[in-house]
Amino acid sequence: MSTFGTLYRVTTYGESHCASVGAIIDGCPPGLELSAEDIQIQLSRRRPGQSNLTTPRNEKDLVQLQSGLEHGVTLGTPIALLVKNEDQRPHDYSETDLYPRPSHADYTYLEKYGVKASSGGGRSSARETIGRVAAGAIAEKYLKQAFGIEIVAFVSSVGKIHLPNELSPPSLTRSDTNEDNDDAEDSVSPEFRQLLKTITREEVDHHPTRCPHPATAEKMTQRIIRAKDASDSIGGTVTCVIRNVPAGLGEPVFDKFEAALAHAMLSIPATKAFEVGSGFRGTEVPGSKHNDPFVVRPDGTLGTVTNWSGGIQGGITNGEDIYFRIGFKSPATISQPQETARYDGTPGTLAARGRHDPCVVPRAVPIVEAMAALVVMDQLLQQDARKTAASRLPPIKTLPPTMVMPKKEVLLESNKA
Ligand SMILES: Cc1cc2nc3c(=O)[nH]c(=O)nc-3n(C[C@H](O)[C@H](O)[C@H](O)COP(=O)(O)O)c2cc1C
Repeated sequence: MSTFGTLYRVTTYGESHCASVGAIIDGCPPGLELSAEDIQIQLSRRRPGQSNLTTPRNEKDLVQLQSGLEHGVTLGTPIALLVKNEDQRPHDYSETDLYPRPSHADYTYLEKYGVKASSGGGRSSARETIGRVAAGAIAEKYLKQAFGIEIVAFVSSVGKIHLPNELSPPSLTRSDTNEDNDDAEDSVSPEFRQLLKTITREEVDHHPTRCPHPATAEKMTQRIIRAKDASDSIGGTVTCVIRNVPAGLGEPVFDKFEAALAHAMLSIPATKAFEVGSGFRGTEVPGSKHNDPFVVRPDGTLGTVTNWSGGIQGGITNGEDIYFRIGFKSPATISQPQETARYDGTPGTLAARGRHDPCVVPRAVPIVEAMAALVVMDQLLQQDARKTAASRLPPIKTLPPTMVMPKKEVLLESNKA
């Protein structure tokens, strides 16, 4: 369906070539100061035509707020917003009247619905993500103001070009063929943890690839241009960190925090993979090295020394930085001729026309941030509702001490000992 979330509910609408795309957001707390500019910043980071590395489709993607706020303050009622589609060129897609694009959604949409949008990717187009990005920007404003939560995503690879090892999330070590080697030193490096703690959107946007390491970013640019010049495309990964999330978010057992994140991320077009924390690398490292030992933080809560868990244990946030990585495939629409078959089964050659992204990851960054914000917001509202309901009960004095968390003072005291 087109709705995401339980208490912060976002419904997106729109096809690539219809009059407008947008969203209705239900569950935004009242009293949040909000302007179109708060939303526009992220929409402009997502929009096409930002550089020679993205599709030249020229859309300004200016948001129009329709309801849910007055005098720049949210009313707690549904927020409706829209963005007009202005630069459609349906004729670019005339071949795709005959051919389903290989590895795009044309064939499956037609099989499913029995009818499809007459041009463009219809609902499968990345234009649909405008509603998500706008809804995410609103959630982010609340999360930042109420909890100091920050979300930053960045491009971590394009094709085979990766950030240097020390700045990368843990990854499978294909080059290490020694099956008896349990060494895990190359994994969650101090440099990577530091990057997660400090990286800003300004740093990410410094380079059109949205890779925060200038030398790697330059190589990525060349790789994307090589794909573009060959009328081809290339994939990549986006890594995201969520900072300052309180411990206790996540709804076991089916809506565990990482399950909700995976759901959110794998609903973004062109995604093929999702890893949280140590991800697949965690399968190679023995428990003795993979476990995150506990330590008392200066504020009297428990933290962890390492963070292989990616800030989530038992499907519940533990207060550490949450980090995860998403794999995006090489976009399907390429103008290089491909042997394939028409809808009617006739073999033929498709060289797709139209304006397309040679690589989606630079534009996917704000979409990943938005989906992360939707997950945090939704889970936070659910946990707040639970905590508020529990706080209305008289204190329980009969439980054995092992059933409740010791007070912060106790933790700080035992840390001194
Ligand atoms: C920001 C962004 C831009 C995209 N641009 C294109 C594009 O120009 N051409 C294309 O074929 N696919 C593009 N895609 C991917 C398609 O929307 C997607 O591959 C298609 O809907 C099929 O869905 P699937 O790949 O998730 O199976 C883009 C995806 C994102 C996130």
